[in-house]
Amino acid sequence: MGKKMSLRSKAMIVFFITLLLIMGSLFAGLGQLRDQVLRNEAQAVADQVVSFRSWVASSGMVWVNKLSPQFEDYLAVHTTGDDTTFFGKNPALATRELSTIANKTATRATFTVTSDNVRQQANLPDAFEQSAILKFTLDNTTKYVAEYEGDFYRYARPLIVKEGCLKCHGDPADAPPAVLEKYGDQKAFHYKVGDVRGIISVKLPSISFMEALPILANPISLGGILLAFLINFFFTSRFILNRLQKLTEDTKAIVSGKLDTPLVYTPPAESNDEVDHVYNSVDLLKRSMELVVRKMARKNKDD
Ligand code: HEC
Repeated sequence: MGKKMSLRSKAMIVFFITLLLIMGSLFAGLGQLRDQVLRNEAQAVADQVVSFRSWVASSGMVWVNKLSPQFEDYLAVHTTGDDTTFFGKNPALATRELSTIANKTATRATFTVTSDNVRQQANLPDAFEQSAILKFTLDNTTKYVAEYEGDFYRYARPLIVKEGCLKCHGDPADAPPAVLEKYGDQKAFHYKVGDVRGIISVKLPSISFMEALPILANPISLGGILLAFLINFFFTSRFILNRLQKLTEDTKAIVSGKLDTPLVYTPPAESNDEVDHVYNSVDLLKRSMELVVRKMARKNKDD
């Protein structure tokens, strides 16, 4: 077996293990922070979608007198006395068109409104969305579903059927003719109040490890770690290791006969420092040695 390790090396190892544990805990905390930040961002997007939807719903439909080539869909037509034609877009349709624009131009968040029973093929759910809808259907107290999918963060919030939805999603017999004409009487009907009609689904780029790294590896944190190391190093050197070394030298000197070697320490009555206590014990040993030496000297003289 090799030589035992020095206290200095042991103290260093303990310092670095402590540092690693603290960094590990901070990283775990960063993971939580990442979940929170992404969830907040997704929630904000979903809130905007809800607001936009209810803005359209508040007047039943938005009416436009020109259909842009990108958005030629409409649910109703109205021609005024002076032959101007208006095209009506209901909340779901207007939201789908907003989502098309957002998904093309967004730098981060994209969204869709989808369902397990779609009226509109373009709204078909993907695997994450299907499983989220299932979760909301099985447990109607679930507020949201979120998960990481590769480099993305996925978030879904349920859209619950209210009284006002029944006109177009309840009994087909009550539905506006325009809905029946455009979508038939099979798709997305027979819902009841409280049912999960679908979800708002938000997709965000996740925050990678490399993006999160500067939160820990910035000049202030690194400076703090360096300072902690220096304080640790200074403390163990100055108050423990250097004093033990001095004590070793003093004891060796005493053993080799230099009984006048001064022992510098604070007496135990005034100090709780363990090194002072060891010093005191060596001092007592030294004094009893002095006594023995003096006795022997006197005995020698008497003889
Ligand atoms: C004026 C009729 C009307 C009302 C009222 C209405 N919807 Fe719809 N809904 C539609 C139409 C039409 C579509 C298909 C839109 C499209 O083409 O994207 C649709 C689509 C949807 C979709 C997207 C999935 C799919 O089927 O393509 C969801 C989710 C939805 N509606 C939920 C609701 C909820 C919740 C309410 C009540 C708050 C509601 N709707 C009220 C007509 C209506």
